[in-house]
Amino acid sequence: MSTIVVVGATGGIGAALARRLRERGVQLHLVARGRERLVALAEELGASFATADAGDPAMLKSAVEAAGSPLSGLAYAVGTITLKPLARLSVEDAERDFRVNALGAFLAVQAALPALRAHRTGASVVLFSTVAVRRGFPMHASIAMAKGAVEGLVRALAAELAPEIRVNAIAPSLTRTPLAESLVRNPATAEAIARQHPLRRLGEAEDAAALAAFLLGPEASWITGQVIAVDGGRGVIEAKP
Ligand SMILES: NC(=O)c1ccc[n+]([C@@H]2O[C@H](COP(=O)([O-])OP(=O)(O)OC[C@H]3O[C@@H](n4cnc5c(N)ncnc54)[C@H](OP(=O)(O)O)[C@@H]3O)[C@@H](O)[C@H]2O)c1
Repeated sequence: MSTIVVVGATGGIGAALARRLRERGVQLHLVARGRERLVALAEELGASFATADAGDPAMLKSAVEAAGSPLSGLAYAVGTITLKPLARLSVEDAERDFRVNALGAFLAVQAALPALRAHRTGASVVLFSTVAVRRGFPMHASIAMAKGAVEGLVRALAAELAPEIRVNAIAPSLTRTPLAESLVRNPATAEAIARQHPLRRLGEAEDAAALAAFLLGPEASWITGQVIAVDGGRGVIEAKP
């Protein structure tokens, strides 16, 4: 049975993805920082797991390598939300966002590469960007910069690893997960942001997880190098007043 690694597996999107993949009979290897939630999810899904902080390259490498070989896929669903005006962003903010979002994705793919290659054909990598790369939003300088690097990484790796390994990214808009909790906690704020989407709602974890599961599977075997929006239209369409 093929194995897929989900880094950020206990998150909103990561857990929804892991459950979908398990329903398809995929063997899973789960990675996140917090041990308690990771153990509970691994038990629920009959998965192997390893804890790691994506900001620690050696720890992340050994956590991904613990999945064994071969691997049919890797999803890196780890992220940060640091929303501040440029004048208040510190070097530490920008470095942390870059380390966790971009360098972590780079290191996770690098660690998984021998095992993805060992799968021989049809292996798939899914990374996560954000709507805030395609469309500019105030207070998003640090996260847009880090996720912009993820989009560059997707295209470079898709070219380098073709035809054996496909590499794509998903770019969500605001999605109801623990990451977005501070933005959606207040119902009036959540409703106001939902109205800025042509499809008039916020994202749910299942919206992005459904596309991630598709991109990791054989139905997506002719798709690589793409950044696909799951954003209620917000990236390219103006919402009606
Ligand atoms: N939710 C949104 O509105 C939104 C919008 C645009 C893009 N995205 C992107 O979508 C992806 C999934 O986001 P989500 O909303 O599902 O996030 P989430 O609910 O916060 O989940 C994040 C997951 O990553 C793990 N994690 C966080 N920091 C980590 C670190 N330093 N090292 C290792 N694991 C870490 C978390 O578990 P531990 O804390 O236990 O480690 C958790 O499993 C991210 O790349 C995010 O940037 C989300």
